[in-house]
Amino acid sequence: MSQEVDGQKVDARKRKFLIAATSAVGGVAVVSVALPLVMSMMPSARAKAAGAPVEVDIDKIEPGMLLTVEWRGKPVWIVHRTQEMLDLLARHEGQLIDPNSEMPQQPVYAKNATRSIKPQYLVAVGICTHLGCSPTFRKEIGASDLGSDWPGGFFCPCHGSRFDLAARVFKGAPAPTNLVIPPHQYLSDARLLIGVDAKGA
Ligand code: FES
Repeated sequence: MSQEVDGQKVDARKRKFLIAATSAVGGVAVVSVALPLVMSMMPSARAKAAGAPVEVDIDKIEPGMLLTVEWRGKPVWIVHRTQEMLDLLARHEGQLIDPNSEMPQQPVYAKNATRSIKPQYLVAVGICTHLGCSPTFRKEIGASDLGSDWPGGFFCPCHGSRFDLAARVFKGAPAPTNLVIPPHQYLSDARLLIGVDAKGA
């Protein structure tokens, strides 16, 4: 069937086909442009892995010992504190900059006397809050180079900041704040997940 438009005869069937073909080509163009855009918005597997939570088996950490794991490229310490270590935490609060964790260096569930979910486990980012060195674990109570009243903790070799076994900074040190407690949760008595809070925490 043909009809006249602007003085020209047009085949209606041909015109319909041309319109359909143009729409289809347009559709393909949209898909081919949209796909790279979506792909570029998806994080790479490596980026995902770098930011992913880390699951740790903690039942092999002996009392008094420290395990270091990596999370987001940072060292995270897990210390299995003994009862003696815990008892000493309350004895030097007057020497600390922020004994009650008033500064936002920890999730709310770690804003307590031991800065932890379970008192026997300290979970802390092992990076000094002064200029980013990694402090050394110095658990020896009364260590000769740290003073007879040293309760055990962490010593930063770069500029001498000292932290107790709840990762709280002592006064007189260049580090201005306590060490960071990362988000974490316990999946069971033996499994710790670092990097995400428990649902509803
Ligand atoms: S970086 Fe730790 S005291 Fe300076």
